Amino acid sequence: MKKLVSLLMILLMLFAAAPSYAGEAEGASRILVAYLSRAGENYNVGIAREGSASAAYAGYIEKGNTAIMAAMIAEMTGGSLFEIRTVTPYPDDYASMLRTAQEEIDTDARPELAAQVENMADYDIVFIGYPIWHGRMPQAVYSFIEAYDLTGKTVIPFNTHEGSGQSGTQRVIESVLPGSTVLQGLAIRGKTAQEDTEQAQALISEWLEGLDMKKAYTGEEAEVLAAYRAIQQAMIDKDIETLDRLYRDGTTFTHMSGKKQTKEEFFGEIADGTLNYFAYDILNPVITVDGGEAVLTADVTLTAKVYGASGSWTLPVNAHFTKTDGQWIAHN
Ligand SMILES: Cc1cc2nc3c(=O)[nH]c(=O)nc-3n(C[C@H](O)[C@H](O)[C@H](O)COP(=O)(O)O)c2cc1C
Repeated sequence: MKKLVSLLMILLMLFAAAPSYAGEAEGASRILVAYLSRAGENYNVGIAREGSASAAYAGYIEKGNTAIMAAMIAEMTGGSLFEIRTVTPYPDDYASMLRTAQEEIDTDARPELAAQVENMADYDIVFIGYPIWHGRMPQAVYSFIEAYDLTGKTVIPFNTHEGSGQSGTQRVIESVLPGSTVLQGLAIRGKTAQEDTEQAQALISEWLEGLDMKKAYTGEEAEVLAAYRAIQQAMIDKDIETLDRLYRDGTTFTHMSGKKQTKEEFFGEIADGTLNYFAYDILNPVITVDGGEAVLTADVTLTAKVYGASGSWTLPVNAHFTKTDGQWIAHN
């Protein structure tokens, strides 16, 4: 019985879930995610082990660690990606790259870049990403920074490494960009970015949320989000009239236990104090709109008291909506 109740509880909360979204007010900010990264062979990833058993040979990586991190940031912020490439490409093999990087440091080089950001003036927020090379930011990142006037912009460093963390590069960027607002950067292990997508996404998501930099929704995506939030607020407020309006008639709630509940039964338990919702938070929302249909998926943390049990739970949510008379209506 206890198990049944807890399953019901989870499912009921799952249906009740709706997101808040930290960066939504960010609105019109334009975001650039610029990064330098190398594919090929690197410390810990893409290692060519000549002569070793074939199982140990993973082959060169096709996409650099920082490139993977940059793509995740662009996805989560809605930013545009820009790859910082040098006119002379960097070597694929690790040993040669170690030498090249050291030579560039020794000569305080400013390697020539292969492409420019044409419309830098349009961006308010510039993420700058790089690997740590010999404890430092690659010299080509100095070439990039020095090529633009970043005064008045918000600059956010990010990097991958294999043990050095940010290695002091946060302060370096702050000192070379005194006219910019430099926010706290994030360093993650290159191997994590390359091989543990889930972990990398979680670290990046948490960091971006802390900076209030997550994607601002616009248009129909924003409408779906607003409808979802309205449902959640109505759950908290026990506003049954609004809930009834935002859920399609005939919607049934099928619980993990197999039990089905009509929306009237579900709302009845909210109204009579069996189900009580207090707060919610959303992680990694993805909204897909296709004509008059929309799906919102996310991990939602809910704080509630249901069937006498209080707690916070993080649950996967997959909510379907159909646009009816100009309003997104939830259903299953
Ligand atoms: C030339 C070179 C020097 C490196 N030096 C360091 C270092 O000092 N500290 C560290 O933690 N990792 C160091 N690494 C590892 C890289 O920072 C790490 O593999 C990073 O994820 C590579 O990113 P990328 O794939 O985007 O190029 C070095 C790698 C290279 C190629």
